[in-house]
Amino acid sequence: MRKTIILFGVILGVLGFGLTAFSENTPAKINLPSEYRSWTHVKSMIILPEHGLANPFEGIHHIYANEKAVEGYKTGNFADGSILVFDLLKTVEGNDAVQEGGRILTGVMKKSGKDYAATDGWGYEGFAKGNAENRMVTDHMAQCHSCHISTAETGFVYSKIRP
Ligand code: HEC
Repeated sequence: MRKTIILFGVILGVLGFGLTAFSENTPAKINLPSEYRSWTHVKSMIILPEHGLANPFEGIHHIYANEKAVEGYKTGNFADGSILVFDLLKTVEGNDAVQEGGRILTGVMKKSGKDYAATDGWGYEGFAKGNAENRMVTDHMAQCHSCHISTAETGFVYSKIRP
């Protein structure tokens, strides 16, 4: 009987440890904001094939910010709830013009000091072809924050908002 109790205790302990480890390693999920195209347009940029960030960011991207994030650009302090969207599209050249093509990916950054403490309060997600079901980020630090970390003095945000 005592053996059974000890075994039961061990199993519970292992389960508990497993659950804690799981929750610590998987930061809260970020969904694709459905309404971001009506948010404030921050800026746009075209990355050419020769650019250092061409893989995977070649194309034309537009950056959007929700109200809290717009405030963050102004004050340099992005409050919890700030969301930034990086919308990357193909470029199509023809007739002496460059047009937007299909969507390549939509990147999202969401601020929550509690949920994303390990990456300075920013959570990251990418959606292949802008598809809300097609998540790309498995490691916030390795895939995203390790680069954004070099902009710590502007709140880990690279872009500046065009007046
Ligand atoms: C190698 C460096 C690098 C990596 C890796 C990177 N980014 Fe960025 N990111 C940038 C740069 C540079 C900009 C600014 C682009 C501009 O000014 O138009 C940017 C801009 C952004 C923005 C708009 C806010 C800002 O900081 O200007 C979002 C959102 C974003 N990235 C999301 C992501 C996500 C999600 C990932 C991981 C899948 C990621 N980034 C990985 C370099 C990087």
